[in-house]
Amino acid sequence: EEGRLRDRLDRPLRDLRLSVIEACNFRCPYCMPADEVPADYGFDAATRLSFDQIETLVGAFVRLGMRKLRLTGGEPLLRRDLPTLVARLARIDGIEDIALTTNGVLLPRHAAALRAAGLDRVTISLDALDPELFRTLSGGRGDVAQALSGIEAARAAGFPVIKLNCVVQRGVNEHQVLPLVERFRDSGMVLRFIEYMDVGTCNHWRRERVVPSAELRDAIHARWPLQALDPHYRGEVADRYGFLDGRGEIGFVSSVSAPFCGDCHRARVSADGRMYTCLFAGDGHDLRVALAGGEDALVERLATIWGARADRYSEIRGEAGGSRRHVEMFLVGG
Ligand code: GTP
Ligand code: 5AD
Ligand code: SF4
Ligand code: SF4
Repeated sequence: EEGRLRDRLDRPLRDLRLSVIEACNFRCPYCMPADEVPADYGFDAATRLSFDQIETLVGAFVRLGMRKLRLTGGEPLLRRDLPTLVARLARIDGIEDIALTTNGVLLPRHAAALRAAGLDRVTISLDALDPELFRTLSGGRGDVAQALSGIEAARAAGFPVIKLNCVVQRGVNEHQVLPLVERFRDSGMVLRFIEYMDVGTCNHWRRERVVPSAELRDAIHARWPLQALDPHYRGEVADRYGFLDGRGEIGFVSSVSAPFCGDCHRARVSADGRMYTCLFAGDGHDLRVALAGGEDALVERLATIWGARADRYSEIRGEAGGSRRHVEMFLVGG
């Protein structure tokens, strides 16, 4: 049965993270540093899968057991007519959840249409509240006031679950952690702190810059006591904590200090139709030829790729087996 597909480490294919565009209006140094990825980097709309191709692709993934879809970028809101795509994907039987990860600055324009089209959830990146630091962390392109307006727009559009992602770097924005918690802990939104990862090839990652989640959790707990919460489902990426005073929850994504490859049920597809079986994979698998052959051909190709999968990069980071050649973060959207 197609839905019983397992990889070599016995992991099913449950989630798809699909990039709809590789371009971005930010240049976050940890993802797409401006000196390495200039404005004329070679972004090309002609290489992107069409909405028809994406619909076929997602249909094939559903047949193999995928139930959770996340649209990513680059910055997905730069893709023209995104709500039209969402509406088409929301009609596919079997998908239980469609989410979007965005930097938020274009949400005031698009949030209502996306919600109306059937988008279930949004996650917005927010690395700092301090305007100057926010600007620096966006590569000089972003305005924190606009990101905050985007968050408000998502709320006004009626998204029931809004998550906020903060990538924490030692000596860069760790002092923003408590102010962020203070600001959002009673908001109904879920703030998550993410360990800085060695994604891509150009972010000059250094382990000393990683702030282990346990350290942040202790600092937050000292101010606002926390208790661990059960995951919503097996393989949830973030560890959840609730405030003891009942004022909401926060999360930690600890892929450096506590890797979660054992339960990794995620496939990734770039905007140009390459499949990556790990965030840290080197080469993707080109799906275009199979895609041209229709859904059945694609199902067969995806099953072959997933069946051969043995990735667990975060568990072997630093060991001899861990290659240094990784797909760029902005091509697979995290
Ligand atoms: P939900 O649990 O559905 O809300 O989504 P999510 O937290 O998985 O998605 P999001 O795009 O918000 O990602 C949060 C952080 O986790 C980002 O920094 C991602 O790059 C990281 N992340 C997501 N999936 C993986 C994974 O499979 N491996 C690693 N190493 N990091 C991941
Ligand atoms: N380490 C950790 N998270 C990262 N993201 C982008 N680059 C990195 C990195 N080097 C985050 C973004 C976004 C999510 C999809 O991935 O901030 O919230
Ligand atoms: Fe753009 Fe997101 Fe990468 Fe920042 S992390 S450069 S917003 S794709
Ligand atoms: Fe999955 Fe690769 Fe992340 Fe491990 S490092 S959880 S295998 S994407």
